[in-house]
Amino acid sequence: MKLAVIGTGYVGIITAAGFAEKGHKVTCVDILPEKIESIKKKKSPLYEAGLDKVLKKLVGKKLFATTNLAEAVKDADVSFICVGTPSAPDGSIDLKYIKSASAAIGQALSSKKKFHTVIVKSTVIPGTTDSIILPILEKASGKKAGRDFGLGMNPEFLKEGTALADVRKPDRIILGAGDQKTLKVLKALYSKFKAPKLAVDTRTAETIKYANNAFLATKISFINEMANICEKFNVDIYEIAKGIGLDERISPRFLAAGAGFGGSCFPKDVKALAAASRAASYEPTLLNAVLEVNASQPLRMVELARSLLGELRGKTIAVLGLAFKPETDDIREAPSLIIIESLLRASANVRAYDPKATANVKTVFGNMVQYCKKPEDTLKGSDCALIVTEWKQVKALKLNSFKKLMASPIIVDGRRAFDPIKAKKAGLIYRGIGWRNK
Ligand code: UDX
Repeated sequence: MKLAVIGTGYVGIITAAGFAEKGHKVTCVDILPEKIESIKKKKSPLYEAGLDKVLKKLVGKKLFATTNLAEAVKDADVSFICVGTPSAPDGSIDLKYIKSASAAIGQALSSKKKFHTVIVKSTVIPGTTDSIILPILEKASGKKAGRDFGLGMNPEFLKEGTALADVRKPDRIILGAGDQKTLKVLKALYSKFKAPKLAVDTRTAETIKYANNAFLATKISFINEMANICEKFNVDIYEIAKGIGLDERISPRFLAAGAGFGGSCFPKDVKALAAASRAASYEPTLLNAVLEVNASQPLRMVELARSLLGELRGKTIAVLGLAFKPETDDIREAPSLIIIESLLRASANVRAYDPKATANVKTVFGNMVQYCKKPEDTLKGSDCALIVTEWKQVKALKLNSFKKLMASPIIVDGRRAFDPIKAKKAGLIYRGIGWRNK
């Protein structure tokens, strides 16, 4: 089939790559010419492991790029809306890009004879496809949804760093369709993907995406709250997580306590769901608590450092890892930002290391932070190290190098990068949120 993927952000480019790999002809569309030029040059506009390799193989064969939305839509059987849905200042979803993309697609459809299907992939609040996107498409095209064009919602569940694997082998595919023709198109599109497929209406598809992210975020905040309780009881949260993770109903995944969740999805989606729920006159007590626990976790790391170091003023603190998780340069809602801000406010000297995200963090803190090329360089002469992202380069540090290089070997680990027993044996003061404190 021929596809137009509107928006070459994270979701768009990965979706395009995934479909092109399965043999569909995919045209990526963006309003930013630099992104389109980059794709044409077979270079991904953002960092994701393995993506450049896919572009090298498929651009010019199965994968194309243009700034001309109308042409791409007219030439395609299916258009995917993959534009961003940022948070408005009150946490609610901002639909400006969804609306402009829908209007532009509708306009292109006005002069198109052939049946066309529009699929929403961006994460949108339940009801958006039906009550906002559909009327915009109908108005701009002068056509009727379900009769002249199809409309569906097909959420993504991509994780940064493993997005290509996720798109190649999804654990389920949600086919949200407003009509039978659209469902048929969605089934054909995904015919080569082996995964359980669930056919639902668009409103259900939209809600599944939010419920999925809200549940995972809740799991993390739950284990973080348990960690905060464990600290009071002097028991180790990682042993607790292992113990409960063996219960099949719980599973061991998403039970890593520490600095909290960041990224482009969990914080934004939970806030958007909470705001939408509030607007619909239901106060989402649990979601509010999930966000509250998460907001305080990075600061707990700073508090732990303060309790071990005393005054932070004038102390040199090494921050190891800046990206919201390993294998990405993404710093959106990263715990590292809250930690650095708090350290700077306390007049500490901050040194930072990250293999990918340094340039992004520079745009936030400029030269208020000293950026190091190697993790070892951040440690030299520092009074305390905070491990915020579990990069393999950080985990590869030798325990005795902390002892050798640091002025005092105090480590506060938000990701449990090392074995505490070995760290203790190596003479380190190695602590984390919810770990045994003796
Ligand atoms: C998430 C969802 O997993 C994905 O399905 C959705 O489509 C987008 O949002 P992503 O943001 O890429 O994906 O990262 P993920 O691996 O889920 O981690 C999110 C955050 O939670 C990271 O900051 C990570 O460090 C943190 N986390 C994760 C924990 O603190 N503890 C855990 O046990 C797991």
